[in-house]
Amino acid sequence: MNELKLNLQIAECRMEELTEDEQFLVQKAIESTNNSYAPYSHFHVGAALLLDNGVVLPGCNQENAAFPAGLCAERAAIFAAGAQYPDVPVTTLAIAARDAKGNLTEEPVSPCGTCRQVLIETETRQQQPVRILLYGRRCVYAMDGIKNLMPLSFTEF
Ligand code: THU
Repeated sequence: MNELKLNLQIAECRMEELTEDEQFLVQKAIESTNNSYAPYSHFHVGAALLLDNGVVLPGCNQENAAFPAGLCAERAAIFAAGAQYPDVPVTTLAIAARDAKGNLTEEPVSPCGTCRQVLIETETRQQQPVRILLYGRRCVYAMDGIKNLMPLSFTEF
C-alpha cells in the first residue's frame, strides 16, 4: 500500500497582508452581501471576482421558495462572468458572508461542494488557477487554486 499525502496550501492572513487589489476585491465581496436575497436562510453571502481584463463582477446568493432553484454567491458571479466575458480568465475570487444578525462572519466562509465543482470547471476551461480569498473577521484564507479545497476532483470522463 502506498499512502498518498496531499499537499493543500492555504495562507491564513490579516487583511493588511493582502495586496491592495485583493483588499479591494474582498471589500467588493463584503458589499455584495448587501444585495443578497436570503429570506429563508438569512445567511447573506457575497462574492466578487476579478477578471484578467481588470473587470470586477459581484455576485450574491439568490434564494427561492423552491429551494433548489436558488443560487450561491460564487456561482452567481462566475456564471455572470461566463455570460459577459466568456473568453476572459477569472484571476481572483473573494467571498464574504453576514449572519442572520447582519454581522460579518468571524471565520472565513468556505464555498459549498457544488461551487467547488464549478470552480474546478472554470480553472480547467481557462487553463489557469483562480486565486481564492475567503473572508472572516478573524482572518482571511488565501490560496492559489481550487485544488487546495478540492483535491482528487472530478474533471472529465
Ligand atoms: N451559500 C452561498 O452563497 N455560498 C456558499 O458557498 C455557501 C452557501 C448560500 C446558499 C444559501 O442561500 C445560503 O448560503 C445558506 O446555505
